[in-house]
Amino acid sequence: MDSESARRGRTTAVVTDYRPPTDVSDMDILIDETRIGDRIKAMAAEIEADHPDGDEIHLVCVLKGGFVFMSDLVRSMSPRVTMDFIALSSYGKSTKSSGEVRLLKDLDSGLEGRRVVIVEDIVDTGLTLTYLQDILRARAPRSLKTACLLSKPSRRLVDVKVDYIGFSIEDKFVIGYGLDYGEKYRNLAHIAVLSGE
Ligand code: IMP
Repeated sequence: MDSESARRGRTTAVVTDYRPPTDVSDMDILIDETRIGDRIKAMAAEIEADHPDGDEIHLVCVLKGGFVFMSDLVRSMSPRVTMDFIALSSYGKSTKSSGEVRLLKDLDSGLEGRRVVIVEDIVDTGLTLTYLQDILRARAPRSLKTACLLSKPSRRLVDVKVDYIGFSIEDKFVIGYGLDYGEKYRNLAHIAVLSGE
């Protein structure tokens, strides 16, 4: 018991080696935590370097899948970052895109004259991103760039511009680090291939 805990009459367990109880035995780890972390720092540096000194960089996170990526990315960036969140329809429990995109939650503030970067978990067919870039471009930002942690180039149906790509991967359905299957597995610290894929 440390002196502060003793003074308050409470016991505090000092936990140094806690790991969340995730059973990953039936999943293949595709990209581990360390590689993700290193790549995100490099992406943050690239984004900073591409935007003129002193200009605000407004990051638009695509919910829900982009929330972990966004959270690590912004913590590797300078205080000139501001952020907002938008939600688009997802696949639900399917592992294939329906091709239909719907806006579920809009941004809280306007984009006119701002330097905007979309922060998305993965670009697959490219339909979601094309839709999003179109609606955000119509709001007259000063610049609009896109950062995706993952890309599956072999699945592309439309030619969409992605300025920053973390990792290009094969055509496998992946989970973890924000990505879900039926709303599960978003909290895995690494990216894994869903078993049976
Ligand atoms: P797209 O419109 O086909 O490019 O799909 C983009 C969206 O589909 C992403 O934002 C994800 O939410 C979802 N998605 C695509 N591939 C995967 C995957 O392998 N795992 C989890 N979600 C995926």
